[in-house]
Amino acid sequence: MECISHLTPNYARLPVKFVRGEGARLYDEEGKEYIDLLSGIGVNSLGYAHPKLTKAVCEQASKLIHISNLFEVPYQEELAQKLVETSYGRGKGKVFFANSGAEANEALIKLIRKYWRDRGEDRYEIITFKGSFHGRTYGSLSATGQPKLQEGFEPILPGFVYAKFNDIESVKKLISEKTAAILLEVIQGEGGVNPAQGAFMEALYRLTRKAGILLAIDEVQTGNGRTGKYWGFQHYGIVPDLFSTAKGLGGGIPVGALVAKSEIAESLTAGSHGSTFGGNPLAMRAGLVVYEELENGLLNHVTRVGEFFKEGLKSLGVGKVKGKGLMLGLELDKPCKDLVLKGVQKGVVFNCTAQRVLRFLPPLVITQEELERALEILKEILL
Ligand SMILES: Cc1ncc(COP(=O)(O)O)c(C=O)c1O
Repeated sequence: MECISHLTPNYARLPVKFVRGEGARLYDEEGKEYIDLLSGIGVNSLGYAHPKLTKAVCEQASKLIHISNLFEVPYQEELAQKLVETSYGRGKGKVFFANSGAEANEALIKLIRKYWRDRGEDRYEIITFKGSFHGRTYGSLSATGQPKLQEGFEPILPGFVYAKFNDIESVKKLISEKTAAILLEVIQGEGGVNPAQGAFMEALYRLTRKAGILLAIDEVQTGNGRTGKYWGFQHYGIVPDLFSTAKGLGGGIPVGALVAKSEIAESLTAGSHGSTFGGNPLAMRAGLVVYEELENGLLNHVTRVGEFFKEGLKSLGVGKVKGKGLMLGLELDKPCKDLVLKGVQKGVVFNCTAQRVLRFLPPLVITQEELERALEILKEILL
């Protein structure tokens, strides 16, 4: 019988179907084993079939999966506390829970606008960056500084202007009496694993303080231990006014969050924003397990094996190695799309972004031995 797909054609899928996993290993329908260097694009932070995560999720599923934010939701306060304690400090921030990165960014964009409206100021413009990625919904897509992703979906939302990443002068030129905030990823993920330079982040921070505007950071990909710290901005010694996160937060269970300084978060008054599924008990339990693991040595593990992997990638001598912790990129001098399929054929999973950058976002639990083996395979593919 002819094979007919009933799925929209918006994903260019690889011809492999993973059916289960264990730790940082994946297995396909035939039982073939793969080392996973992608974790479902930075989502499966605890890898696959993690005993504690599995137990907590199963236990919660047997009690209460969803109840609605019309009521107090079990475990929301506990996870919100973790997100605030690891960023602003206990009692100094507040959290809105969503289901994805784009949705967390929608909340972030709305809060920025509402914050200024509440103060009677006509500031609504957000400066974002060329090469950035903030999601596919209209607000987050409008914030995304990549015209190719917006093409065909115009008109995009007004109120976004795009500066050059790591170029403070280009930011200064865009500041006006309409500027509400600056929004950026501290490491542009989809844009090619491009870290912000230290001097740029410091200058950006000072600029926002001087101009009296908000500094917002998209920690969707860099957050929750991915770079070896809870939050990517912690590598730069600065604290944003608000930030979004998602991906690794639920270890595979969809969950996103907006975290803001308390005085800013106050603008999300009762009824001003919401989400049916956001912050359900199942996702909260999963997030709490992720944070328990990060606290119990996983962060240090990420730094240690991340450094090992980075050095290993450098030693291949085939391109520029970029990124922090377990968010690494290898920039080649040629397109890398075909290498992804070669990787799959040889039993290692990674992805290609910005045409020439191999992107590695392994589960945070990956072992040094697994990375050693992955490096051997990468060597075969690349040399
Ligand atoms: C930095 C960043 N922000 C936002 C998003 C969008 O997240 P989601 O796909 O969960 O909507 C992504 C996804 O790749 C991302 O990397």
